[in-house]
Amino acid sequence: MIPITYELIKTDKQTGARLGRVHTPHGSFDTPTFMPVGTLATVKTMSPEELSSMQANIILSNTYHLWLRPGEDIIEEAGGLHKFMNWDKAILTDSGGFQVFSLSDMRQIEEKGVHFRNHLNGEKLFLSPEKAMHIQNALGSDIMMAFDECPPYPATYDYMKSSVERTSRWAERCLEAHKRPDIQGLFGIVQGGEYEELRRQSASELVSLDFPGYAIGGLSVGEPKDVMNQVLEFTTPLLPANKPRYLMGVGSPDALIDGAIRGVDMFDCVLPTRIARNGTCMTSHGRLVVRNAKYARDFSPIDENCDCHVCKNYTRAYIRHLIKCNETFGFRLTTYHNLHFLLKLMEQVRTAIKEDRLGDFKESFFEQYGLNQE
Ligand code: GUN
Ligand code: ZN
Repeated sequence: MIPITYELIKTDKQTGARLGRVHTPHGSFDTPTFMPVGTLATVKTMSPEELSSMQANIILSNTYHLWLRPGEDIIEEAGGLHKFMNWDKAILTDSGGFQVFSLSDMRQIEEKGVHFRNHLNGEKLFLSPEKAMHIQNALGSDIMMAFDECPPYPATYDYMKSSVERTSRWAERCLEAHKRPDIQGLFGIVQGGEYEELRRQSASELVSLDFPGYAIGGLSVGEPKDVMNQVLEFTTPLLPANKPRYLMGVGSPDALIDGAIRGVDMFDCVLPTRIARNGTCMTSHGRLVVRNAKYARDFSPIDENCDCHVCKNYTRAYIRHLIKCNETFGFRLTTYHNLHFLLKLMEQVRTAIKEDRLGDFKESFFEQYGLNQE
C-alpha cells in the first residue's frame, strides 16, 4: 500500500495553481496548505485542540531536535509522535539535513553523512541518511523527508553540482533504509540552488527513484524573491503532476500565493509563530507590531477583517500589555491569530482556484496587504 496519495481536483484557469487533496494514514488535507511548525513536538504555545480549531490538518516536526531531546526511543516507547503529543492528524518530519546546516557551525560533510556539534552542549554528533530514516521510523510521522544537503546561498555551480549528486545518492540510501514504507511516506528533496540545469538534474534523478512526493529545498536561504519565483517556475514542471509538491521553509503571505501560482501544494515556516512571540501580527493590511506604543489605548482587534477567536474577543491594547509584560497568554493570542491568518489565507487561495480567480484574488489581496511588506 502507498501511504501518501495525491488527488488533483482542478487547476486555476487564471494562474495554473493546483487544488488538490493529500491522503495520509492520519487523515486528509486540502492543498495548497500551510503546515504550522512544531519543532519540539509542540507548535509553540498552542494546544492540539487549538490547532484543530483553526483547521490545521497537518503539522511539521523535526528529526534533529527530537533526536537530541527527548530521544526517538522515548517517543517510540510512547507509541509514536502522534500519541506522545496527542495529535491524531497528519505529521511531517524534516530529516535534520537542514537543521545540521543552519544550527551547527562546526560540520564536516562526508559521503557517509555529516559530523557536527550538538547546538546545545557542543557534543560531537553524526547524522546520515540511515540514521535520519531510523529516527523518523521511530517517530512514526506520516511524511518523512529524505536526508539532504541544503547549501548556503550563493554557492558556486561546481559545489552545487557535487552537492546535488550527493543528495541523490543519499536519497537512494534513504529509500533503502526506510523500514516502514507501507505506513510512512518518504519525500525526496530537489536541490540545485538557482541553477536551472542542476534543478533539472536533481529532479530527474529523484523522480526516477519514484518517491510518493517531492519537496523543493534550498530556497528561502537569502536569495531575492524573484530568484525564488524563477526557480519555482522552472522546477515545478519537472515534478510529476500526480504527486504533492512541498516548498520547504516558506511562509510569508506573498510567497505562499506566488508559490501556489507556480504549482506548489504544501508550505511550512516558523515565520508566523516566531514573529508572534516578538509581538508582530500578520493582518489583511500587512504586518502590525502590536507591541508598539501607539497601540497602548487601541481597543480595536488585531485585524478587523479576521474572524478568529482572538480578534473576536481581545483588543490590541490588552495584547500589547501582555506582551510588554512577557505574559505567556499574550504570546498565545498572537500565535493563534497568525496561524489562523495563514490557514485562512490558504483556504481563500483554494476557494479562488476552485472558482478560477486566483489571479484576481492575488491582486485584491495585495492591494490591501501592501506590496513591499515582506
Ligand atoms: N527546510 C528549509 N529548506 C530545507 C532544505 O533544503 N532541506 C531540508 N531538509 N529542510 C529544509
Ligand atoms: Zn485574528
